[in-house]
Amino acid sequence: MDYPKPKFGRRDELTPVIKTGFGIFKNKRNYLDRMTVPGHFPIGFTGRRQGPFVEALDSKRKYYFDATNYWMTLPIDVGRHFGKNTKLQTNIGFSLLNAGSTSEFGSVALAAFVARMKRLWPRMNRILPFNSGTQATDAALKWAMAMVMHKNKLKPKDMKVVSLESGFHGRCGMGLEATRKSKNTEDYQTYVTPRIPNPFVVFEENGFVDMVETENNVTRALDKLTKYFAKPSTAALIIEYPMVAEGGAEKIAPEFLIEARRLCDKHGKFLIVDCIQMFGKSGNWFPREVKQVADAICVGKYSRVCAAMLTDPTKRKFDDYAGIPGKFGATWFGHDAAMISTLAIMDVIDKNKLFVNGVKMAKKFYSELKKMTAKGMRVERPRIVGTYVGFDIRGGRDKRDKVISRLQKEGVLALPAGEVSIRFAPRLDTKEWEIEYFLEKLQNSLKRL
Ligand SMILES: Cc1ncc(COP(=O)(O)O)c(C=O)c1O
Repeated sequence: MDYPKPKFGRRDELTPVIKTGFGIFKNKRNYLDRMTVPGHFPIGFTGRRQGPFVEALDSKRKYYFDATNYWMTLPIDVGRHFGKNTKLQTNIGFSLLNAGSTSEFGSVALAAFVARMKRLWPRMNRILPFNSGTQATDAALKWAMAMVMHKNKLKPKDMKVVSLESGFHGRCGMGLEATRKSKNTEDYQTYVTPRIPNPFVVFEENGFVDMVETENNVTRALDKLTKYFAKPSTAALIIEYPMVAEGGAEKIAPEFLIEARRLCDKHGKFLIVDCIQMFGKSGNWFPREVKQVADAICVGKYSRVCAAMLTDPTKRKFDDYAGIPGKFGATWFGHDAAMISTLAIMDVIDKNKLFVNGVKMAKKFYSELKKMTAKGMRVERPRIVGTYVGFDIRGGRDKRDKVISRLQKEGVLALPAGEVSIRFAPRLDTKEWEIEYFLEKLQNSLKRL
């Protein structure tokens, strides 16, 4: 089938400083590996996108279909919606060049952002914006630890939080502590976060739910949680919801969330729901049940500005335990430019009711995956929540990794999850041909595996 091809044109708009980076990437291919963190796919991203395609300086391809970044962290095709909006671009540009630090000035962008997030979750009493999701989970966890520590007259060194065996909450600070143990993380973890078994929905190979095994998973997780919650030093439970993303694109059983809330009330603990990856991907900004039961919600990715959104369950004054609120902040505290872009993007999504389209596209994708499963094409356990889709590749981690690298050869960048899975969240304004394009490349990559 013929698909639209991107035309990126000339690079006149690049400043001389950025052109230096261009030269480095072309001539010293391992420079980023040596000097910093090169990212999953070091393809030399130029910053230019067209629809789902990203321009690359890779010697193998001029562009890639981006089912990682674009489908996972940008909710809409910004070129399509904002191409001619110079007012917006000027606002963002000026705030990047000129902005006063939000820790010194209360800015109008911050006021608009806070009001928008309060509308999303009216139970929220305070929001702490940050530049990364990791900082947001870090702040939410420290907040919960401080609250319970004061109540139980303990010291910071005594405090613990509970997380899931396969959780992912960040790459430094408390977020890393709560992330699953692996050979990459354990050198940095100090055991302040005991784990409980994953309360995952169990899918059979064909994608149907095994109710009995799901219930067993929930019971195992709740039993262990009850044990940890009996200790005064346990401050909180942190979970991703409605899906554990990085740790396998697995669905959390909703009854676990409800029961965990009941246990938090019983033992005086906090329930922190990390929606950093799922924000805007559950068919809405948040799942309704999260808004009902959480003490804190963390957001990121789609929101660009990351944030810890906090309620005030103990009615304790915020300043009592954290000194001045600025102690939780930072010089850029989310950054005005990110707030302005987030608000513009959220506006487009709301006005055009784009969640409806996103879910429709994800369902199309999911139903094709189910057909592939029925045909015995190595695709197993397809699962979906809102716009978030996961599936396994039969044959273990090696085979899954092979599919990802074959996809890259086909010009498609796709994200792994857990040991054997691949995950996607099509953009909310994804077009039908993009789903077909991706499926065609996936099928090519599965051949003769
Ligand atoms: C669920 C979840 N929490 C926290 C984070 C950390 O966010 P960031 O990478 O912005 O620090 C991530 C990032 O992938 C995530 O998926």
